[in-house]
Amino acid sequence: MNDIQKAFDLAKQARLNAHAPYSKFLVGAAIKPNNSTTLYTGCNVENASFGGTICAERTAITKMVSEVGSQTLEYVVVVTDSDPLAGPCGMCLQVISEFSDKNTKIHLFNLEGLHKEYSFSEMLPLSFTKDWLPKN
Ligand code: THU
Repeated sequence: MNDIQKAFDLAKQARLNAHAPYSKFLVGAAIKPNNSTTLYTGCNVENASFGGTICAERTAITKMVSEVGSQTLEYVVVVTDSDPLAGPCGMCLQVISEFSDKNTKIHLFNLEGLHKEYSFSEMLPLSFTKDWLPKN
């Protein structure tokens, strides 16, 4: 089984843990840091105060950082039950940008295994980065 297939399986599994009683839209994610074999998974965690909802991608990133600190990402895998495939929301893309490099890939899957690969930069070409912040 290749790496991406394994990440798909883990994200699909994590999706089943989604707390999504409001939208009923279950999302799973798996991320792989560069130079690591460990994958971190996440699911969406909704809240009765809707703005408190955390998406699957941000759950996975927060888990990674809390476990091993900041890493750049080789890829992010997102699994939904959507056709056409659903991509990360704008807020997740911005959070991914904090941990992306020019090679970071976004893989979208649905439960049937429909799969599309994007580079992060084609999904968010003008992401806001620390380069815009004052240097001192
Ligand atoms: N959701 C994600 O988990 N990831 C995304 O990138 C898109 C949206 C979740 C948030 C909410 O729980 C549900 O999908 C419907 O918006």
